[in-house]
Amino acid sequence: MKATWILPDGREIALEVKPGLSLMEAAVAGNVPGIIGECGGTMSCATCHVYVEEGWQDAAGTPSDFEEAMLDATDAPRLGCSRLSCQLEMAPQIDGIVVRVPAV
Ligand code: FES
Repeated sequence: MKATWILPDGREIALEVKPGLSLMEAAVAGNVPGIIGECGGTMSCATCHVYVEEGWQDAAGTPSDFEEAMLDATDAPRLGCSRLSCQLEMAPQIDGIVVRVPAV
């Protein structure tokens, strides 16, 4: 399966992502700049913040209440399409997903 990260400068990084792996884990393993994943996916750092591109937001689902609270603590502005990428698990419905890395 595949996911693409669009960097603040417009560059795109497309990576193969195994099912069940979070987009944060895939981004860290693939050295996507701007995705730190400091807490390892326990929703306590918000350094995995991404903007889900239009067309993928329904498939990506909605944040849990706890994720919602953490999204209020991101460095970059929170948008309607903001998600913590540690909570986006690769699965068939998001195969091909495109996310933007916020500028900080
Ligand atoms: Fe820390 Fe996602 S990796 S909140």
